[in-house]
Amino acid sequence: MNWSNNYNGVAGIYNFLVRLVFGSKLINSTLRLLHLIPKHATVLVVGGGTGNFVKALATQQPTCTIHYLDISIAMLRQAKKNNHNSDKIKYIQADAFCYNAYEQYDWVVFNFFLDMFPSEELRNFVVQFKNKATPGTNLYITDFKRPISLRQKILVCAMILFFKLSTGLKIKKIEDIRKVLKKEGVQLNEDCTVEDSMFFCSIMKV
Ligand SMILES: C[S@@+](CC[C@H](N)C(=O)[O-])C[C@H]1O[C@@H](n2cnc3c(N)ncnc32)[C@H](O)[C@@H]1O
Repeated sequence: MNWSNNYNGVAGIYNFLVRLVFGSKLINSTLRLLHLIPKHATVLVVGGGTGNFVKALATQQPTCTIHYLDISIAMLRQAKKNNHNSDKIKYIQADAFCYNAYEQYDWVVFNFFLDMFPSEELRNFVVQFKNKATPGTNLYITDFKRPISLRQKILVCAMILFFKLSTGLKIKKIEDIRKVLKKEGVQLNEDCTVEDSMFFCSIMKV
């Protein structure tokens, strides 16, 4: 298979790698606003990876309708394994760029997904997504902030290089994701944002 961001080869070691480099910080950063997703919400988790987020959501908000989407069959298998094949979660293998059913969700989650695309591709994705989603859809986004310190810059460069070699990642730097989204008319709820030195978790609205 020949697409960029092909995680099939790293799916089995992804959680181990993330923990090795970031400890529990990266995974925890995705969970910081979980309590704001209301009971009975219909949630799509895009690029759901090994399924850590859907697992936490299914535990914390069992009445939510949870759909997981990922292009990688190996990631999807890991997610099912991680969730003991829970029938609370519907698994969809699809390319987020081609997916046409965004309008059925009131929450769409993008954790460490939007950072994979160079600015023009990211912009195109956001424009397409906005056309397909229902106005008022909540976006739950966790991702890297642009690195500031030398240590962060080195870490991010090493990470980009690793994923370039292992998954075909195309980016050269981390974009200011929220700025790109805001330019395309997606609204940031300043009160629903938490940040630390490397990561942000924000809720935005289409
Ligand atoms: C960096 S991982 C993030 C995984 C997870 N969200 C997390 O927080 O750890 C990116 C995920 O997006 C998936 N992905 C890449 N391109 C995609 C696409 N076009 N459509 C859907 N999923 C995609 C990859 O297979 C991978 O599982």
